[in-house]
Amino acid sequence: MNVVIIGAQWGDEGKGKIVDFLASDAQIVVRFSGGANAGHTIVLGGEKYALHLVPSGILYPDKIVILGSGMVIDPEALFQELAGLEQKGIDWKGRVFISDRAHIVFPRYRELDKQAEAGRARPIGTTGRGIGIAYSLKASRDGIRLADIDDDERLVNLPGDDRAWLSIWKERLLPLRIDLAAYLRQHRNSWRLFEGAQGALLDIDTGTYPFVSSGMSCAAGAAAQGGIGPRHIDRVLGVFKAYTTRVGNGPFPTEFADDSPGSLSQYIRNVGNEYGTTTGRPRRCGYLDLVALRYACTVNSIDRLVLTHIDVYDGLEEFEACVGYKIGDKVIEDFPASVRDLTGARPVLRKFSGWKTPLGKCRTYEELPLRAREYIEFIEEFTETSISIISVGSDRKQTIVRESPWIK
Ligand code: GDP
Ligand code: IMO
Ligand code: MG
Repeated sequence: MNVVIIGAQWGDEGKGKIVDFLASDAQIVVRFSGGANAGHTIVLGGEKYALHLVPSGILYPDKIVILGSGMVIDPEALFQELAGLEQKGIDWKGRVFISDRAHIVFPRYRELDKQAEAGRARPIGTTGRGIGIAYSLKASRDGIRLADIDDDERLVNLPGDDRAWLSIWKERLLPLRIDLAAYLRQHRNSWRLFEGAQGALLDIDTGTYPFVSSGMSCAAGAAAQGGIGPRHIDRVLGVFKAYTTRVGNGPFPTEFADDSPGSLSQYIRNVGNEYGTTTGRPRRCGYLDLVALRYACTVNSIDRLVLTHIDVYDGLEEFEACVGYKIGDKVIEDFPASVRDLTGARPVLRKFSGWKTPLGKCRTYEELPLRAREYIEFIEEFTETSISIISVGSDRKQTIVRESPWIK
């Protein structure tokens, strides 16, 4: 069975936690896109693990994890991350593989990324990891894949410095290299999770272009870049927060206007610990945007939603969620492509009453207070999509399963 997990907002929805949680029933986890721009956090028994390139099944001793074809891989970052895991007692050898179609991120790409940002009148606010450069070179057919690193003919156009650098990492990369499609065909009876990075609104096609990342973070990416075909995806899960965050620049219709001390924005940032896992930047915060979430459900064929961070609302008397955009004198309920429209959109908000009870210890849907269930059921109704998993805290065990994704 093949279950795809993507972010349904602007990233950092809690994909790492959910992939780790569901990986207990999988044999293989394939991360299909992005690079070291991602930061996926897993909290297990008080210990925190921040993953950037390594798929989120790695904490189990027996899972195979694969860096998929759509990824752009900085070997320095990868081996540093693996060394960090080793220091925490995680034995990764023999179960971390990389698709031979994945692309290499060379050190100079990071510099080029920063230069590109400096030249933009409206910077994107990239993570500076060279991601956009790697995907640009891939699209212009000048990239170097894992499949190419021992093929001198493919390296002739590389600057000498790049070739020298690659020769250092080549010997460590080669033992990890596999043919992903062949590997999955050989293990066709396994249960696999396909882990997305970033989120639907940061996807190069479905996101808020140009304020997006450069990879495919939409569900379709799992098929194009995960080693399987689109008809073999059994289920798509979309992970979203009870509110919205965004790191970096770009339109964000529900962003709180007031971010001063004592504001709701700062309250959510503090309670939700909303600081980037990769760059440490404070995340921008706002109410849940149901217009954007429903759009993400539509364009990704999301079968079931996974709600996270609902516990962050525990202390609130009341809160709101966006059910439409006012643009000029029109109200729309569909997510526009135009940055101008998104920037000028004023959210139409619906009020909800808070529950003023800690949810962190709830383990069944029935244990959730009525007000929390009312919020959840409104989201389901608006998006026409059921919420099958609810996360009430960062720890693996703080998870409520209403329906397992492994049931066909
Ligand atoms: P990802 O990029 O989607 O994997 O998400 P990140 O790891 O960047 O950010 C999510 C943050 O929220 C991490 O620090 C998680 O430990 C934490 N987290 C995940 N789920 C929950 C939840 O339900 N409640 C709270 N309070 N924190 C959560
Ligand atoms: P995870 O997988 C949140 C954002 C950056 C910037 C834009 C482009 O942890 O959810 P890039 O370096 O990719 O060229 O930056 O995308 N961004 C993310 N925001 N979570 C992420 O990943 C992100 N990866 C990239 O902040 O706005
Ligand atoms: Mg993250």
